[in-house]
Amino acid sequence: MSKSKAVVIGKLDNNLMEKLQEQCELNVWDKPSRIPQELLLDWLKDAEGLISRGDIKIDDDLLSHAPALRVIAQSSVGFDNVDITACTKYSIPFGNTPGVLVEATADLTFGLMLSSARRIHEGWEYVKAGKWDSPFNIPLGVDLYGKTLGIVGMGNIGRSVAKRAQASGMNIIYHNRSPREENEKIGAKYASFEGLLEESDFIIVLVPLSEQSRHLFGREEFSKMKPTSYFVNASRGAVVDTVALYEALVNKEIAYAALDVTDPEPINTDNPIMSLQNILITPHIGSATHETRMKMASLTIDNLLAGLNRKSLLTCVNSNVNY
Ligand code: DGY
Repeated sequence: MSKSKAVVIGKLDNNLMEKLQEQCELNVWDKPSRIPQELLLDWLKDAEGLISRGDIKIDDDLLSHAPALRVIAQSSVGFDNVDITACTKYSIPFGNTPGVLVEATADLTFGLMLSSARRIHEGWEYVKAGKWDSPFNIPLGVDLYGKTLGIVGMGNIGRSVAKRAQASGMNIIYHNRSPREENEKIGAKYASFEGLLEESDFIIVLVPLSEQSRHLFGREEFSKMKPTSYFVNASRGAVVDTVALYEALVNKEIAYAALDVTDPEPINTDNPIMSLQNILITPHIGSATHETRMKMASLTIDNLLAGLNRKSLLTCVNSNVNY
């Protein structure tokens, strides 16, 4: 049986690579840098499958250069780099990796909130810099216990964060387009967007990036938050207007921000926001554990192989063109 042709963007574990190579003839770009567009278009000329990555823009134009393509799989739950309508137009199912990264991402998101509130990262810098010269000269944080956490975009990851926060004695409110029974069941209370901004001591953002959510958090939204509030973004950088966040932090309209995602990404060290003391930034590591990344890669390969064999992808975003 002849092998299917596939393009792989990203580095895969050796066992997974072998599994793919049994069925596929591969063109692989495993460098951290972005693949040159010309090379990608050349490889896609006769590719039947593609493992894509968040730095690749999948749009109508790209797909029009890939006449044999019948499946795209990507190791992420977010797919804001992909024009799903275009994939559907070309009858190409797109598989992402929901579910498997929920707990790891919830850990990191909760960790960002905890580390900011208790100044864990600052404490370590303090000790390293030799500033711990007296038990009375230490960075002071704030309690989580008894505080209100507002989650914007509360799905599976949000619920897992909420459970961790409840264990720390926090009250949970949330805002989605409409109330969700699964959220109410765990004791989270629905709030209007404005109500959540005004009431929360901590705000965690977990909404996917779309045209509607781009710059959802700007000057007006920060001005409604408590001056003592902590703002955590673990979704996509462009959900936040970075200049407005910078101003809100400088003008003490909010107390602190913790970001696992930035706009642009990676963020430049000369970006003004990097000079602030009341911010913590991590390099988009929500799902970055060995175990979770392995599960994501494995699901991605299963999705790719399913599509190449014209079988149903296990997790497909545009299920109307799934096999
Ligand atoms: C996701 O899965 O969307 C994570 O943010 C990694 O990109």
